[in-house]
Amino acid sequence: MTKEKCESFSFAFPVMHGTMGPSVLDQRRLAQETGMFTFDPGFGSTAACESKITFIDGEKGILLHRGYPIEQLALHTDYTETAYLLLYGELPTKEQYDVFCEDMASQRLLNEQIRNFFNGFRRDAHPMAILCGTVAALSAFYSDVLQTKPCHHDLSARRLIAKVPTIAACAYKYTIGEPFIYPDETLPFSENLLYMLFSRPGRPYKADPVLARALDRILILHADHEQNASTSAVRLVGSTGSNPFACISAGIAALWGPSHGGANEAVLAMFDQIGSRENIPAFLERVKNKESGVRLMGFGHRVYRNFDPRAKLLQATYHEVIDTLGLKRDPCLDLAMELERIAIEDDYFIQRKLYPNVDFYSGLILKALGIPTSMFTAIFAIARTAGWVSHWIEMISNPTMRIARPRQLYTGKIQRDVLPMEER
Ligand code: ACO
Repeated sequence: MTKEKCESFSFAFPVMHGTMGPSVLDQRRLAQETGMFTFDPGFGSTAACESKITFIDGEKGILLHRGYPIEQLALHTDYTETAYLLLYGELPTKEQYDVFCEDMASQRLLNEQIRNFFNGFRRDAHPMAILCGTVAALSAFYSDVLQTKPCHHDLSARRLIAKVPTIAACAYKYTIGEPFIYPDETLPFSENLLYMLFSRPGRPYKADPVLARALDRILILHADHEQNASTSAVRLVGSTGSNPFACISAGIAALWGPSHGGANEAVLAMFDQIGSRENIPAFLERVKNKESGVRLMGFGHRVYRNFDPRAKLLQATYHEVIDTLGLKRDPCLDLAMELERIAIEDDYFIQRKLYPNVDFYSGLILKALGIPTSMFTAIFAIARTAGWVSHWIEMISNPTMRIARPRQLYTGKIQRDVLPMEER
């Protein structure tokens, strides 16, 4: 690859303004008029779409869903209300809420044949592997909506938000060898999730409301986050007209990576690896020396360059949970707080604007709730399904939507001829 400074380039970019946030240069006619593309791997300077769902100001630590601050949603709504807001643009009235809850609860059950799929997985399969495959396989059961007609969008969205928790809970039960627990339609969303995870035949389970509320808060805080990697994956796959189950399965696959949703699991693995407070400085030295594969997990964010508002809310929730459970402080928490204290005062992290993100604390809460580490990313996927389906509907309903087809800077061999094998 060669680089040169372009002196003579001239193109009048129309400028587009949103309702909040930076304006964008409209470069849709750039290639046609100049014969050149822009180069932005990782999309750091590229707005890939227009959206009305979520707004983030990373410098100020602001996160709004449909205009509402995340702090208010976390304190004054439940996950089902937030999902309704993401999907339909407004918070529900009492009547709308009741109808939505009832309809969603009735969609929780899986087709009985889906149980057979689980037997095809190894018992030690990661729940995310099972989730990816089984969510994609839902398309084999709902052939009525595969054409993605507008009248089917809402039904597909509701089916996905309602069934992903059931699949995730079955994946967990399968890996620990316990019988599947059918969803209870009478329970609110998070209580039902805890019930499916922790109930056993012969050992009824009633979730503590404070713990259900803590889980619900985690779900609200993870419900959407504008054009992150997994949402962009959903939009990219959806732009081909692929069915909603395949699209959400793509989102789950993207979420699984440790740079994205897999970070909550990686954070706890990192705490284990560090072991105790005295090992923190040595660990941070390895991070700062960029030793291969060593990052401060749960720190840094492409968009937040000051603080992640979700991390602050989770710190408070953690204390509510341990007080309710009467648990002693998890030694991991002391380690986490000390690690955070040292890192945010360290020049390496200050200069790069690296602060704790949502995953730094969410794993500690999930652990206190008794949820095993291997299920952390699956819980994130359950929450993010509301965001994914909202973005999928927004995208597919846009009449100007085009298939996502990025271009490239080619740096490979120039054209050459194939030689007979004996001459190569
Ligand atoms: N630990 C150490 N150094 C870091 C970290 C980190 N966690 N994050 C970024 N950096 C450094 C990079 O090495 C780079 O340094 P340099 O300028 O000397 O080359 C600089 O900060 C910029 O980093 P990028 O990788 O360019 O930042 P990017 O925006 O691409 O990455 C990401 C964001 C992937 C979240 C990154 O910060 C990271 O890997 N964090 C740890 C994983 C994590 O917690 N992910 C969860 C994100 S939140 C979520 O998905 C819900």
